[in-house]
Amino acid sequence: MSNSLLKGKKGIIFGALDPNSIAWKVAVRAHEEGASFTLTNAPVALRMGAINQLAEACNAKVIGADATSNADLENLFRESMNELGGKIDFVLHSIGMSPNVRKGKSYTDLDYDFFHKTIDISAMSLHRVLQSAMKVDAINEWGSVVALTYIAAQRVFPDYNDMADAKSMLESIARSYGYHYGKARKVRVNTISQSPTRTTAGQGVKGFDSFFNYADAISPLGNAPAEACADYCITLFSDLTRHVTMQNLFHDGGFSYTGVSREVMEKFDS
Ligand SMILES: NC(=O)c1ccc[n+]([C@@H]2O[C@H](COP(=O)([O-])OP(=O)(O)OC[C@H]3O[C@@H](n4cnc5c(N)ncnc54)[C@H](O)[C@@H]3O)[C@@H](O)[C@H]2O)c1
Repeated sequence: MSNSLLKGKKGIIFGALDPNSIAWKVAVRAHEEGASFTLTNAPVALRMGAINQLAEACNAKVIGADATSNADLENLFRESMNELGGKIDFVLHSIGMSPNVRKGKSYTDLDYDFFHKTIDISAMSLHRVLQSAMKVDAINEWGSVVALTYIAAQRVFPDYNDMADAKSMLESIARSYGYHYGKARKVRVNTISQSPTRTTAGQGVKGFDSFFNYADAISPLGNAPAEACADYCITLFSDLTRHVTMQNLFHDGGFSYTGVSREVMEKFDS
């Protein structure tokens, strides 16, 4: 269904790895809503090739960029403006990776080189994206930048590991840069805190199924699916949310404000 919410808007979408990726669903919805955009991912992810199917379906160019490289990011913004014929209106940052999680290191036995990488890829990259965009003046006034996060930034989920610290930092960068970019160019910056979702990054976390099912049983609306997250991103890219900035917005079926549900209480009835 299209309401032409993004008609005439131009964007950059980071992080579509495969059809399960949240970014993939956002790209499909953005295309339906009339946007034109470029797709980007780390060169290693591009080699897997799936993104080309998405690019074809959305009539989008793929431009490789490692989100930890300033040079790659500046090039991405310049090339995207060339390709799209002008400045950008929206950016989706849908990037996360922890080598500690990948290698099964526990939170009390972290490898600090890995920890640096987690922070660089999953949090500092948002700062780099925003700073690179500002440097080449790539985003139009009232443009919108959205990054995806998880409630482990506020509450402890033991196996979310160093990604929890990265998400806290990501949310903080969205607030801080949201202030500066808002003042300078009226650009808004927000994070969406999404329910557990079955994707490559999500399922990499130990015990994913347990906390997926737990969150589903606690949330009055159940876990929010990736498609609904994509819809929410579209509203934030649209002109209907022009004065929303520097926020962490929960998109979680009510999980964040629910103490306990009857379904979960019944499991503890003695
Ligand atoms: N899946 C969940 O349960 C869940 C819940 C809340 C938030 N999120 C967040 O949503 C975002 C998207 O993740 P997803 O669940 O769609 O998984 P995904 O694995 O499909 O996406 C993660 C993306 O990050 C990209 N990436 C990794 N290193 C990179 C680098 N150096 N440069 C550029 N890109 C890089 C990967 O190639 C991949 O496309 C992440 O920030 C994730 O933390 C996911």
